[in-house]
Amino acid sequence: MAIGRTTAEFDEISPVYDATREPLEPAVLDAIAATLRGWEVRAILEVGVGTGRVAGPLAARGFGVTGVDASVGMLTQARRKGLDRLVRGSAYALPFDDGRFDVALFVHVLHVLDDPKRALAEACRVGARGAVGLVRPRSPTDREPPTGEPRPRALVIERLRAEGIDVPAHAGGGPPRAERRLLEELPPAQLVLVHEEEVTEPLREELRLFERRASRWTLRVPPEAMARAVAAVRAELGDRTHRYHHRLALARWERPRSGS
Ligand SMILES: C[S@@+](CC[C@H](N)C(=O)[O-])C[C@H]1O[C@@H](n2cnc3c(N)ncnc32)[C@H](O)[C@@H]1O
Repeated sequence: MAIGRTTAEFDEISPVYDATREPLEPAVLDAIAATLRGWEVRAILEVGVGTGRVAGPLAARGFGVTGVDASVGMLTQARRKGLDRLVRGSAYALPFDDGRFDVALFVHVLHVLDDPKRALAEACRVGARGAVGLVRPRSPTDREPPTGEPRPRALVIERLRAEGIDVPAHAGGGPPRAERRLLEELPPAQLVLVHEEEVTEPLREELRLFERRASRWTLRVPPEAMARAVAAVRAELGDRTHRYHHRLALARWERPRSGS
C-alpha cells in the first residue's frame, strides 16, 4: 500500500485512535522499560510514534524519547499530550544522523509497513544498538482459534465479502501474522518476552475490534453492512469461549557490522 494512502488513513483515524485501542498495561510498560535498560538504552527514536501512546509512558519512565511519524493527524494528538520531540518523516528515510539514538523502536508499526525489512535497516542506521520491535511472537495457543473452530474475524470477513464488500487480503491474519513472518524471515539477535498471560474470553470479544472500527480497512466498510455482519456472527458464536496465550516480546535487530 502506498505510504500516502496509509498516512491519509491514519490522519482520518487519529481523533479516535486512542479510544479504539487497548492501552498497554503499566506492568507491560515496566517490563519493556526494564528490558530496554538491560540493553543500556537511554535515547529512543520511536518510529511511527502515532499519538504517543507508548512514547509518553516511556518518557515518564526516564527515557529520552523522540518520535517520528508520517501522519500529521497522529502527531497532533501526540503534541496535545505534551510530547514535544516530534518530527514528521518516513520510516524509510529517517531524518537523523547515523547512530544518533541508542535504538529505534517500533510498536504496532512493522505490520502496517509495505517493506518492514527496509524500515528495520534504516532504523539500524540511526540506532547504535539497533532496532527494537514490540511483537506478538508465536504462542502455544493463539487468540485466533485453530482451523475447524469458529473464527470470529474470518466469519465477519466472509459475511462482508458475501455482500460484495472489498476486504483486503491482509485483513484475515491481523498484525501477529505479519510480525511472525518478519521474525522468521529476519530473525532478531534477541527476543525477550515482556508479557505472557493465559486468557479465557468469549469468542464474541474479538467482534469489538470491528464494532470499534479499530482497523483502518474497516473505515471503508459501510457502517450498516458492518453492523449486520457483526450481529449475525455474534448470534452464531453465542457464549462460546476460547482460551489462549497472550504474548508480547521485544525483538532486537542489530546493525550489520561494517563490511558484512
Ligand atoms: C498502528 S499506529 C501505531 C502508533 C503507536 N506506535 C502506537 O503503538 O500506538 C502506526 C503508526 O505508524 C505510522 N506510519 C505508518 N507508515 C509509516 C511510514 N512509512 N513512515 C512513518 N510513519 C508511518 C502511522 O502514521 C501511525 O501513526
